[in-house]
Amino acid sequence: MSTETVRPDAANVARVTTQTLQEMRASDVPIAMLTAYDYTSARLFDQAGIDVLLVGDSASNVMAGNETTLPMTLDQMVYHAQCVVRAIERALVIVDLPFGSYQGSSKEALQSAIRVMKETGAHGVKLEGGAPVVDTVERLVSAGIPVMGHLGLTPQSIYNFGTYKVRARAEAEAEQLRKDAQALQAAGCFALVLEKIPATLAEEVTAALSIPTIGIGAGVGCSGQVLVSHDALGLTTDFNPRFVRRYARLDERITEAVGAYIDDVRTRAFPSSDESY
Ligand code: KIV
Repeated sequence: MSTETVRPDAANVARVTTQTLQEMRASDVPIAMLTAYDYTSARLFDQAGIDVLLVGDSASNVMAGNETTLPMTLDQMVYHAQCVVRAIERALVIVDLPFGSYQGSSKEALQSAIRVMKETGAHGVKLEGGAPVVDTVERLVSAGIPVMGHLGLTPQSIYNFGTYKVRARAEAEAEQLRKDAQALQAAGCFALVLEKIPATLAEEVTAALSIPTIGIGAGVGCSGQVLVSHDALGLTTDFNPRFVRRYARLDERITEAVGAYIDDVRTRAFPSSDESY
């Protein structure tokens, strides 16, 4: 008997494209997305059948130990994206344009996005924001670059928000988000990340759009879900918002394994004669 996992309908493809995501949304097959920043993890996620890998600027937090995503540079994003792209055979790879690489003008954004596409081999970029980035999205899309939008809690604006609390609870902000979602779709975004907004609003926005939405802390009514892989795998221990589900406790497994290694080295139980030349 085959142990191969059979994915339903559109998800069961050799190579995921933006068109695949559109088909998955149309046939109501939820899209699974995780972040990835390095070759070894990306290879495992791809082999496990993940649909989309996001080379997120959350690398700033989980890889570099910064408090926010703001310090991430375009050079650093290019490096992480190259590592991820080398590993994948099936997943669609999307790369965050980091803070300061696209807000200045749509020309600056195009130069940054072209660098990502040329130097990494990734399949598209993601950028944060609504109305202020609509012209930029149009310019990138007209240059042939697939763009994923990102609304709700947009971490690059954290000093504007002041907190990481749920966004768009107030009607005025919810209404702006509805308009931004429509404007980003009209500008050519192939999908939208909705981060940390009420589940009812995310479901409503998803129903009103024809492109897929990918939620993080936005409830089950989105077309798919994304988590930061370090959170999902339990590598991070000090970040516990309610939207994170830990699918493993790798923190415990790693601490245990490293402890066992140290004990073996101290007692000369490692290496054995079989492990020596
Ligand atoms: O950088 C990132 O990891 C992200 C996800 C949280 C969507 O943007």
